[in-house]
Amino acid sequence: MGRLTLRTLRKKKEAGEKITMVSTYDYLSAKFCQEVGIDSVLVGDSLGMVFQGLDTTLPVTLDEMIYHAKVVRRGAPDLFLVVDMPFMSYQVSVEKAIENCGRVMKETGAQAVKIEGGEKVAELASRLIDAGIPVVGHLGYTPQSINVFGAPKVVGREDEEAELLRKDFKALEGAGVPIIVLESVPWRLAKELTESSEVITIGIGAGKFCDGQVLVFHDLVGLYEEAKPRFVRRYAEGAKIFKDALTKFKMDVERGDFPSEEESYGT
Ligand code: KIV
Repeated sequence: MGRLTLRTLRKKKEAGEKITMVSTYDYLSAKFCQEVGIDSVLVGDSLGMVFQGLDTTLPVTLDEMIYHAKVVRRGAPDLFLVVDMPFMSYQVSVEKAIENCGRVMKETGAQAVKIEGGEKVAELASRLIDAGIPVVGHLGYTPQSINVFGAPKVVGREDEEAELLRKDFKALEGAGVPIIVLESVPWRLAKELTESSEVITIGIGAGKFCDGQVLVFHDLVGLYEEAKPRFVRRYAEGAKIFKDALTKFKMDVERGDFPSEEESYGT
């Protein structure tokens, strides 16, 4: 089949076929994604919370993102790989941002970088695209602005907020951004944006009319128990399965039931 590209995703939108994306950070989960035919893996900076146990995504570094992206690429060599640019890796100056995004592309095998924001990052997006770096936008609730938002929230319920979101979407579209993640956006607004544009929309908490959906791996397999936003559907109770296995291991060792003779080497 070969590696999925932006063209493959565009064709899916044109054909009305839904796109699947999973945010993940390690080799094995990426391999599972490829084995079951997920279209795209995102190395999300949510790894700050889910993998590193931090409170926000803000402390995640560029080197950490590059490390995880390399590992994910190894697990999913054929999927469309998007890498999140971490907080402050693209806000300081356009030059610095291009240099950092270039590093991600060169060192990880990513096919696109994701940056948060609309009008404010449109010029940067256009410069990146000119430099040959496809950009995935991220609008609605943007976790790197947690301190501005105060807390995660739905964005676009009020008329003024919806209008701003439309403007941000248009600005990214005008800059040539091919894919936009819509996070925590009312479904009617997400539908309107999706249907009015050739930009591929990927929703998370943005209803079913987006061109595709993304969830964090650890959320969808039920491993991350710290939070469960309304938009997460758990397809497995991963945490329970793992804890049951660990409990059994502990009991077996303590009772002397593990290892058995078959699990031991003879002379
Ligand atoms: O960091 C992340 O995993 C993300 C997705 C949830 C869209 O940005």
